[in-house]
Order: sequence, then structure tokens, then C-alpha cells
Amino acid sequence: MTAPSESESDTNLSPQRRAWADKNLDPEARTLLAEDEKYFLRQSVSTPCLNVIVKAEGIWIEDTAGRRCMDFHGNNVHHIGYGHPRLKRAIADQMDRLPFAPRRYTNGPAVALAAKLAEIAPGNLSKVLFTTGGSDAVEVAIKIARAATKRYKTLSFWDAFHGAGFGSAAVGGEVPADTRTAALIRGSRASKVGLTLAL
Ligand SMILES: Cc1ncc(COP(=O)(O)O)c(C=O)c1O
Repeated sequence: MTAPSESESDTNLSPQRRAWADKNLDPEARTLLAEDEKYFLRQSVSTPCLNVIVKAEGIWIEDTAGRRCMDFHGNNVHHIGYGHPRLKRAIADQMDRLPFAPRRYTNGPAVALAAKLAEIAPGNLSKVLFTTGGSDAVEVAIKIARAATKRYKTLSFWDAFHGAGFGSAAVGGEVPADTRTAALIRGSRASKVGLTLAL
């Protein structure tokens, strides 16, 4: 399989990484990492996977050998930690009562969350639109900004990550996204400093 470009975030195929894995990983972890390599496409920000985790709680992740590490990266869990009991209870309760609501209908929890976001958002931001994920949110925001400003150019941080969709990758400012697929959306430019906005 082709190796991702070395410029892509924490891709690490170096001999040092291999030596670290040979020294530190137990047989169970090695087997699962080999299976992972067999079935998953290589991704720009996580190739190869570092290790296997079997448990995550609070700030801790635990590997197959029982070693615990503080996780300073996480993904969407930095704020409250892994497996926060209140969040787990709330998710389980909600799944029992109303696991899904089509947008043709409103529902109490959605309105309560929208009201809370409107209350804590800065300035006169008082309307929300829920999307299915971060990439989707960025793309919808670009569409709304374009509609509101009637302009189409965007400027974004160089080497930032805003998601995997066409629109969000276009404002992500990663070199390979531009060079492999040409301009992903019209008018997107990545800058070493700056922010994402419709110009
Ligand atoms: C800053 C930032 N924006 C957007 C995204 C994309 O979110 P999603 O994976 O939910 O599409 C991520 C995901 O890691 C992110 O870190």
C-alpha cells in the first residue's frame, strides 16, 4: 500500500517508530495492529496506529499490557474525559426514551440544547443548526456564509484540520488536499496565519 506523504501530520513510518514498537508492544497489540493495517485504509493523521487501547476512563487510556497513559489529545473527550458517568447515563436514558427524532418533528432535548447554545454564544448569535458532525458543520457554515455575503472566497489556517468532506478539506489548508485533487472548492486559500471566513 502506498505510504502517505511524510508532510501529513503525525504519519510516522520511521525506523525509530518501528524500533519503539518492537521494544514496547506485547504480542496481543502487535497482532491487532497487523489486522488493523490489513483492513483499514491508511489515513493522513494516524498512520500507523501507535498502540491498542482496551479501556478509557477520565483522562486515562489503557493498553493491552495494562499500561495507563494520560491522554492529552483525545477526540471530542478532552473536555469531560472518557466515559463520564453523567454523560453515559444521559445517553442511555435518551436512547431508552427517544433514540432518534426526524427533523419534521421537534423534541424537548433538542430545543433545550439549542436554547442553551443560544444563551452562551457570543454577541447576537442566537440561532442554531445541528449537523451530523464537524465536517458537515464547517461545510454548512461555508454555505451559509456564502449565501449571506454573496462572496465565495475563504481563507484558513495553514495545515489546520476542519474535516474530511470536500468543503471542509478545502479550507483545511493541507498540502496534499490541494496537490492531489486540485482546488477542492472554488476560491479556497490556505494561509500560514489567518482564519476561515468568507471574503
Ligand atoms: C477542528 C476540527 N474541525 C472539524 C473536525 C471534523 O469533525 P468530524 O470528524 O466530526 O467530521 C475535526 C475532527 O477532528 C476537528 O478536529
